[in-house]
Amino acid sequence: MKYYVLFGPPGAGKGTQAGAMVERYNLCHLSTGELLRAEIAAGTPLGLQAKSLIEAGNLVPDSVVEGMIESKFRDTQGVDGFLLDGFPRTIAQARALDKMVEVTGCISIMIPDSLIQERIAHRAHIEGRADDARSEVVQNRIATYHAKTEPLIDFYRSAGKYYEIDGTGTIEEVRQRIFSAMDKL
Ligand code: AP5
Ligand code: MG
Repeated sequence: MKYYVLFGPPGAGKGTQAGAMVERYNLCHLSTGELLRAEIAAGTPLGLQAKSLIEAGNLVPDSVVEGMIESKFRDTQGVDGFLLDGFPRTIAQARALDKMVEVTGCISIMIPDSLIQERIAHRAHIEGRADDARSEVVQNRIATYHAKTEPLIDFYRSAGKYYEIDGTGTIEEVRQRIFSAMDKL
């Protein structure tokens, strides 16, 4: 089994690229953000706990997302691996993941902060995500990324598992860069 971490700041294009990646490599796409939004929409206790944190642009507790991932690993069959989109997002989550499985590689889609804001502003009109609507919340997501998530770059680089992809350019251009990196893994 392959375990790919799909890494990158908010709005980098993780969700956009995931579809083609899961198809090409027969992977199960696990986006912790999407799983949490589904819990919120269903009004579960977990969703209620996550809602105010997400809508303020803060992370939900490590234990919550770690539990979600672990149960998906247990329950999913018929794939050659997993594409973890937006997980791990803290060093603690990365350590927890290392206890569950051996990560194959971290595919990191990188874009500058200015492009993050542009892409999220564009998506706000299309998807209506609550955490895209207010610029203070988007700013907090970017700040949270730099403070808590960016340290994972060194974590995976020192493990020899970090593959950085230039996330600027068209969706198709970025996809081809991802495929040429992943075809070698
Ligand atoms: P999550 O849903 O993961 O949000 P995020 O990390 O902020 O990432 P996004 O989904 O915003 O960006 P994306 O990279 O998927 O971009 P997309 O492809 O949509 O998490 C939401 C929240 O949940 C977190 O803030 C946190 O509270 C909580 N959470 C989730 N995981 C957690 C964890 N592990 N621990 C704790 N809390 C967690 O693209 C963006 C837009 O750009 C789209 O409109 C797209 O069409 C466009 N676009 C993409 N690529 C291109 C391109 N090349 N050219 C032009 N436009 C493009
Ligand atoms: Mg996404």
